[in-house]
Amino acid sequence: MTLATVFLTRRRLGAAVVGLCLLSWPVAGQAQETAAFFRQNCANCHTIGGGRLVGPDLKGVTALRDRSWFIQFLQNPKAMTEGGDPYALKLKEEARGVVMPTIPGMTPERAGALLDLIEAESAKEHSQFEGLTISDKPFTPAEIARGEALFAGTLRLSGGAPACLSCHTTVSLGGLGGGRLGPDLSRVFERLHGRKGLAAWLLAPATTTMRAVFGERPLSSEEVLPLVAFLEASAKRGADDQRPQGLELLLFALGGLAVCVVSFDAIWKGRLRSVRRALVEHTRSRGGK
Ligand code: HEC
Ligand code: HEC
Repeated sequence: MTLATVFLTRRRLGAAVVGLCLLSWPVAGQAQETAAFFRQNCANCHTIGGGRLVGPDLKGVTALRDRSWFIQFLQNPKAMTEGGDPYALKLKEEARGVVMPTIPGMTPERAGALLDLIEAESAKEHSQFEGLTISDKPFTPAEIARGEALFAGTLRLSGGAPACLSCHTTVSLGGLGGGRLGPDLSRVFERLHGRKGLAAWLLAPATTTMRAVFGERPLSSEEVLPLVAFLEASAKRGADDQRPQGLELLLFALGGLAVCVVSFDAIWKGRLRSVRRALVEHTRSRGGK
């Protein structure tokens, strides 16, 4: 295997790998930097040639409008929509009302570089931003179990990040569930628009804590797929199993109480018996006299 094929087969591994490659390909610095920026800030909502996520597929998009329109739009999408721009309003309608956020650090130069990147990637048969291809077939029980093991940390994450369980819980987890620092993920599958959307989100999490945890230690696609399988199964379970939070703790406490009552009872009975035995023996010995 040459270095180039290693690079090609592994190129979807995410920002850390891109970061490493940045060090070894200094010549391509600017383009690589823009690609890393796109992966971190745009790929959770957009593919290039992989279909719609929350936002539209960007393949060939630069041919649809003037470059200046896109540069203005990227600076402040909300202002464009609120200003009543008919094309922006149509996009918002197609996105079922979601408006693109203004991305921090967006300058006209950055926007221009991103449009160049989108154009160059659109010309490729398979863009590096095509996203994960996930079939529509049901996930296998083995995939779901692998996802649960990764979630719970019985299987370690290859990047070395802490297990999801330390901050998140889902209805599928037995016992007392997981941590409470992050939101309950029972319904996140639907919230992030299903398989494609959730997978894209997990490959490059865009929120503060998640980015801090996984920015440098990204999940690989071999980990994202089973995690999506597990979270999809959780969402299905969540739909027919809406346990109020805290009920499990209550049941646990009640269980503990029952154990205490039973064992107190046993100890008490034992004591009664030994007291009675002494009394009986005493009477017998007197009766025998
Ligand atoms: C949170 C999701 C989200 C993120 C992150 C995001 N976008 Fe968008 N994007 C959208 C949505 C939704 C639309 C549709 C327009 C609207 O409703 O605002 C859109 C529209 C666009 C369009 C116009 C598409 C068309 O068909 O004309 C471009 C270009 C674009 N985004 C580029 C980017 C780039 C580049 C980034 C990263 C710097 C980015 N987006 C980040 C959600 C997002
Ligand atoms: C150190 C704590 C921590 C760990 C570990 C962690 N998360 Fe998170 N996660 C959070 C927090 C906090 C949020 C809320 C958004 C934010 O601040 O990033 C979040 C948000 C999310 C969301 C978005 C939820 C939503 O409703 O939008 C998903 C999906 C998610 N995490 C999945 C995972 C998965 C899968 C793992 C394990 C591979 C994981 N997280 C590991 C803390 C964590």
